[in-house]
Amino acid sequence: MTAEYWDGRYADIGDTKVSWYQESPDISLMLIDKVSDVRAGVVDIGGGAGRLVDHLLLRGYHDITVVDLSQHALNVARDRVGLAPVHWVVSDVREWQPDRTFDVWHDRAAYHFLTDPDEQRHYWDLVRASVPHGGHVIVATFAEDGPEMCSGLPVHRYSAEGLAASMGEGFEAVESIREEHMTPTGGTQSFVWVLARRV
Ligand SMILES: C[S@@+](CC[C@H](N)C(=O)[O-])C[C@H]1O[C@@H](n2cnc3c(N)ncnc32)[C@H](O)[C@@H]1O
Repeated sequence: MTAEYWDGRYADIGDTKVSWYQESPDISLMLIDKVSDVRAGVVDIGGGAGRLVDHLLLRGYHDITVVDLSQHALNVARDRVGLAPVHWVVSDVREWQPDRTFDVWHDRAAYHFLTDPDEQRHYWDLVRASVPHGGHVIVATFAEDGPEMCSGLPVHRYSAEGLAASMGEGFEAVESIREEHMTPTGGTQSFVWVLARRV
């Protein structure tokens, strides 16, 4: 999974035609609203060209960071939201070294691309270092009966319990949700969401 690969997916398919497209990221917003207010520092890992940032800005959030290895995807999002004060970070999450902490760590359909156990452990070490106690993590992956591939790449599928266990120490699961996501071509994909508190 390279930046060029993801740039190509967005450029070839179009940001509103990709299988993961959502006009309104309702579950993300519901969970973020539940655990934070507009003063929170929110990071969206693998946020790509997604519309979570637009909706957070509309709600009044003003400390938003979007991390993605695709410059193309972030350009699409930045062109859409204009001059809004968003921190756009072009980085592979496997190499990212943030110089700050976040109240809310959000990841919809990026973590599941990490199929190597070492990379999964490194990811949760990064979350432990980046989210202080009392902060929250929201992660969505394909469910156990979801597709085996996403955007042409293999993914690790999870049950809610498996996803919570994957986090390791320092997290307390608060809530899990199962979702049938409707793709732009009318298909469905089973997702599992876990909201956890950093303890
Ligand atoms: C399935 S898309 C989901 C996009 C967005 N979260 C949403 O829900 O609309 C996965 C995104 O993760 C990004 N991505 C994949 N692997 C990544 C990595 N290792 N580091 C950072 N971003 C990554 C891709 O470029 C893509 O934008």
